[in-house]
Amino acid sequence: MKIRETGSADFDAVLDIERRAFGREEEARLVVDLLADPTAAPCLSLLAEMDGRLVGHILFSAGRVEESELRCAVLAPLAVLPQFENKGCGGALIREGLERLRAAGTGLVFVLGHPGYYPRFGFSPAMPEGLLPPHPILPEFQDAWMVVALKDGLLGEVTGKVRCAQTLEQPELWREES
Ligand SMILES: CC(C)(COP(=O)(O)OP(=O)(O)OC[C@H]1O[C@@H](n2cnc3c(N)ncnc32)[C@H](O)[C@@H]1OP(=O)(O)O)[C@@H](O)C(=O)NCCC(=O)NCCS
Repeated sequence: MKIRETGSADFDAVLDIERRAFGREEEARLVVDLLADPTAAPCLSLLAEMDGRLVGHILFSAGRVEESELRCAVLAPLAVLPQFENKGCGGALIREGLERLRAAGTGLVFVLGHPGYYPRFGFSPAMPEGLLPPHPILPEFQDAWMVVALKDGLLGEVTGKVRCAQTLEQPELWREES
């Protein structure tokens, strides 16, 4: 498997992966909107390639913690084609993304996602660390709001409300587990 940065020629393939992984249009639209959203910059968009086929996509966009200068990122969305699931594509995309973000000086990365999946990549619930989501999350989904620190000493030190790109701050995106 190869992980590489998304190029402009990959745009249709990216949207196709998003549509087929989620079985709906919302995440493809989210990618289109995020890539055009100046408040999302810098974005990191990576593709997973297997046997010459594009099979997975991940997007990170810029985020921040209120009252902090720390560089942060938000992971959304992550998609792997159904027939290529459970082959390590999702994990490879997350690990490579986190490595590139660390090299670029990013301190914290946030995700609203499956609490059974992301902890294996270092994510843990963000609320107990004092890192609040942009909009309130139902109590039963609060463990889905997670963070990973890419530098030592940040968790517990940097606290406050997290602000995402405008595209991700639409309240309806936070009303249920994504
Ligand atoms: C979730 C998703 C990205 C995982 O990608 P993947 O390439 O299959 O993941 P990996 O191969 O790296 O990891 C597979 C492992 O994750 C587990 N896993 C996958 N989805 C999971 C979930 N929703 N909750 C908990 N564990 C999950 C698998 O059971 C497997 O576990 P194992 O290693 O113990 O056998 C992929 O299933 C997908 O695109 N799903 C539809 C879209 C989606 O839900 N995106 C994520 C939004 S948060």
